[in-house]
Amino acid sequence: MPQVPKSVAARAVRLRKEIERANFRYYVLDAPTLPDAEYDRLFRELQDLESRYPALATPDSPTSRVGAAPLTEFAQVAHATPMLSLKNALSEAEVVAFDRRVREGLEGDGEVEYAVEPKFDGLAVSLTYERGAFAMGATRGDGYTGEDVSANLRTLRALPLRLRGDEVPGLLEVRGEVMMLKRDFEALNREQHAKGDREFANPRNAAAGSLRQLDSRVTASRRLTLFAYGLGRFTGAGVPRDRHSRQLDYLEELGLPVSRERRVVRGVNGLRGYYHDMERRRASLPFQIDGVVYKVDALRRQDQLGYVSRAPRFAVAHKFPPEEEMTQVLGIDVQVGRTGALTPVARLAPVSVGGVTVTNATLHNEDEVRRKDVHIGDTVIVRRAGDVIPEVVGVVRERRPKHARAFHMPAQCPVCGSRVERGEDEAIARCTAGLYCPAQRKQALLHFASRRAMDIEGLGDKLVDQLVDHGLVENPAGLYRLDAKTLAGLERMGGKSALNLLEAIAKSRDTTLARFIFALGIRNVGEATARDLARYFGELDALLEADEQALQQVSEVGPVVAASVARFFREPHNRDIVKQMRKLGVRWPAGETRGAARLPLAGKTFVLTGTLPHLARDEAKEKIETRGGKVAGSVSRKTDYVVVGADPGSKYDQARSLGVALLDEEGLINLLSGKD
Ligand code: IVH
Repeated sequence: MPQVPKSVAARAVRLRKEIERANFRYYVLDAPTLPDAEYDRLFRELQDLESRYPALATPDSPTSRVGAAPLTEFAQVAHATPMLSLKNALSEAEVVAFDRRVREGLEGDGEVEYAVEPKFDGLAVSLTYERGAFAMGATRGDGYTGEDVSANLRTLRALPLRLRGDEVPGLLEVRGEVMMLKRDFEALNREQHAKGDREFANPRNAAAGSLRQLDSRVTASRRLTLFAYGLGRFTGAGVPRDRHSRQLDYLEELGLPVSRERRVVRGVNGLRGYYHDMERRRASLPFQIDGVVYKVDALRRQDQLGYVSRAPRFAVAHKFPPEEEMTQVLGIDVQVGRTGALTPVARLAPVSVGGVTVTNATLHNEDEVRRKDVHIGDTVIVRRAGDVIPEVVGVVRERRPKHARAFHMPAQCPVCGSRVERGEDEAIARCTAGLYCPAQRKQALLHFASRRAMDIEGLGDKLVDQLVDHGLVENPAGLYRLDAKTLAGLERMGGKSALNLLEAIAKSRDTTLARFIFALGIRNVGEATARDLARYFGELDALLEADEQALQQVSEVGPVVAASVARFFREPHNRDIVKQMRKLGVRWPAGETRGAARLPLAGKTFVLTGTLPHLARDEAKEKIETRGGKVAGSVSRKTDYVVVGADPGSKYDQARSLGVALLDEEGLINLLSGKD
């Protein structure tokens, strides 16, 4: 075996540290610091060192997480202490009753201290560490016997292969939950989709499917994570024996991932506060939870309370209302959106999902209906997460009735009867009638009035329906011609609300150029692009006259957006509406955001020399110019920066002799992204 030079050994130690630190930051702190590509680079460097110097390899190196040869079956393992389950509480009353039983069981007075944690929505596992080294990991199975999935668990970057610290316990059985983070789940599904493979219904299924693989290399290719929530059997003096919360702290000190969302609270009020807090934050957590878990914190008290029929009396899972339910597809309607896009929407037998009654769910587009194979009459799983529009997750094929019917996109717009078109590479079918289609007109008005656009309070869909159906408003300009008398004649519109609405419309006249551009509802122009356009052009007239080439000078505006914008303003009808609105008093501070002067590199002159590692010269030039900078051919005292690549020419020497600032590619990129 080749001798390992000291510097190489030190490098390997450093690499391992850096890789483990990145793992911890990604999975435990939810604060990734290394881009994937950089992580992969470090990982490959370590793999390379270990293969050149086999003496370097250790059983707990991160490179051992790549999976091993496939198994023919999983071995069965008996759990040293059984893995029980929790009783559920589905309402606050049940939580109050739980706390009462706990207090009665303890015969103490006063409030009980509870350790509270998220209820992770994944799969339970038991991890055995022997003298600090990861020895075995098993699924829950029936609670008494599970399957040995050690090889698979080894591939989890969040799982320490060796515990931290000098005084590790002789034996430690850690209980926890294996999960897939929401972002990793989405990435996996995107990949599955691209490969034409089956997508997973939710992170839990993805985690389960990935962990129970006989080929651990498959598990390694899926990003799974883990949170520890308790202990099984253990030996050693170092393990706290007084409180559950202290045991979790201890697990964290040993390097195990423990959720930062854990707390210790007092009494029912404390439980209530935690529940509502987590419910509110649920959607923004990086992983799925289906409730919270309350555990009596003092371990002596836990023992006192004991178990009843395989569930502890000292703990309970307070579940959130489920976000997924089953129901039947009564029909598939087609809705027409602001840009004429036809969206199939499943009409559902009403079902309560996460506490809200759901009667329809989007199916996105025709391909999606085919891919998910949704038929009218099918039983489907619908999901509603946070504020997002409910969607159909999948079909329960076994329940398809004989009379189920397939869906076809209509050839005519269901609202105005005009021709429907679907571009060759497009997923979306559109009504070709533009603003002549009442559905598009209504959506355009709603968008125009929306909070982030012109912000006209009180102009909701019922009102817009009436305004369009009675022919009172044809386009956004029409809003500024409405009067109290016309409005008061509408359904559910008293004199007072008519005045309020008029006031809101009047108020919206004073806006900003960015909001106005966004409000026009140009295809492919979202809020950010509208802001970029406003900042770059400074005035509406300049934007109105810009051709596609000029539009592409705006950073982040590519050919597709440029074409949409140019097409929109070429249309006389649209120009006319814009003109009318300005006449009717819509205005914004003139030149306030006047572009060029405010662009980050305005007034700076650059000279490029040599070959940059990634950017072609034209690209670099374009990037500098779209941010307001100038690229000159020769170096002078007026040059602000010289960007130097490989094999630079005489410009490099000139820059040095004139003392002009030098940049390499990375420096340039930092400057371009405003980091410097
Ligand atoms: S403690 C005696 N804590 O929920 C049971 N379980 O039915 C001790 N779970 O299969 C379990 N998050 O996989 C506990 N913070 C948490 C949990 C949690 C999720 C799962 C666990 C178990 C099921 C309980």
